[in-house]
Amino acid sequence: MDKTNGRLPPDFVWGVSTASYQIEGAAREDGRGPSVWDTWSHEPGRIQNGDTGDVACDHYHRWAEDVALMKQLGVGAYRFSVAWPRVLPHGTPDRGINEAGLAFYDRLVDGLLGAGIEPWLCLYHWDLPQALQDRGGWTNRDIAAWFADYARLVASRLGDRVKHFATFNEPSVFTLFGYSFGWHPPGTKDLPSLYAAFHHVNLAHGAAVDVLRANVAGARIGAVHNRQPCRAVGKDGAPPSAADRAAAGILDDIWNKAFPDPQVLGHYPESLRAGIAPHCRDGDMERIRRPVDWFGINHYGPIYAREDRGTPLGFAWADAPADAPRSSIGWSVDPDAFRDTLLEAAARYRLPIYVTENGAGAVEKPDATGAVNDSERIEYLRRYTGGLREAVARGADVRGYFVWSILDNFEWGAGYANRFGLVYVDYPTQRRIPKASAHWYADMIRRERAAARGEATS
Ligand code: FCB
Repeated sequence: MDKTNGRLPPDFVWGVSTASYQIEGAAREDGRGPSVWDTWSHEPGRIQNGDTGDVACDHYHRWAEDVALMKQLGVGAYRFSVAWPRVLPHGTPDRGINEAGLAFYDRLVDGLLGAGIEPWLCLYHWDLPQALQDRGGWTNRDIAAWFADYARLVASRLGDRVKHFATFNEPSVFTLFGYSFGWHPPGTKDLPSLYAAFHHVNLAHGAAVDVLRANVAGARIGAVHNRQPCRAVGKDGAPPSAADRAAAGILDDIWNKAFPDPQVLGHYPESLRAGIAPHCRDGDMERIRRPVDWFGINHYGPIYAREDRGTPLGFAWADAPADAPRSSIGWSVDPDAFRDTLLEAAARYRLPIYVTENGAGAVEKPDATGAVNDSERIEYLRRYTGGLREAVARGADVRGYFVWSILDNFEWGAGYANRFGLVYVDYPTQRRIPKASAHWYADMIRRERAAARGEATS
């Protein structure tokens, strides 16, 4: 089969994604409260080069220019997140609503709609208000109600114009990295806290789904899950042992199933049940499993684990084996795994799928002419959209694809070192330079639209 020419549904959504802390900057402006990522990034040694999101892409001030860039690309949708501490500086409405913060998202949504771009709003992309972390964060069961109150505020102010909502972005990443590996805030390594966080995030998801459903007419609600094959590797290049395979199985249960299984299927994976039990009350599974309209998948490439008894969960995160194809920043590249992930998720959850993130990171800079010729990214996107087409041709109900990301941005622990944008950001001047991949993506969208209208394409 030709992997690049399979036909997609005519109303297929082509978009781009970002997240608040990664692009907005203006961290201390107009009444925004601190988030856990402000605290974390300001601690010495946490982030490569000591980078922080204080300024980031200055999107808070340059949003109109960024929306214009999206319009130039011709995308039909933009997934962004609201910074909870920008609208609720202390986390809960009883401690003060920040009108200036809400006004920013108001302007952004109006700007998007004016440009013909559908806003896809994610409530949580990891920037928890520090004030709520100080009250226990995700380990405190009350957070489900705090999250529902936040969702109600956002729904009441933006729900007249925003119809696509995601509750969470990649819950397994911020819980696993935050409560077990120590790579994300709060940086603890404590199993009971990890299990509590799993369950409370799921309760918060269910509560927010109900709030959005009740308050937004015509809402299309989902959650964004990372999903990729978890493969076992042995120590020091040795073939994986049975214990390494078991380790990869636990990672798979956490990474791919700890959130979508309870949210969509109504149960936790077997291996997590004993850990969750102390936090689970009667009626919780019904509170978590609320009807949703779509299933978001973030996918980059397979991930790897091996046994390590010195870690809380008995496994260590591992690099891809030396012979696995990898990008220049070391992430594995496997478009067939993407295709299989889409097929498997379509069969398991039976919901319309939107690929809410996919893209390639690189360390790059403009050439002597000022252009950024990111052929590696173009090749990655070409092959991955090929995998997507194959999955659709084999029956997966995939309805949209969002590139991570429109802009280079603050890449969490890697700071500004790894660039994922279709558009280059020159941080000292904040100048935006569309890369070759931006032109490639715009061109592909144009050809897809023409084909959907039945016009001949070259
Ligand atoms: C995902 C995150 C996103 C971005 C990409 C590269 O895990 O959701 O914020 O950092 O990775």
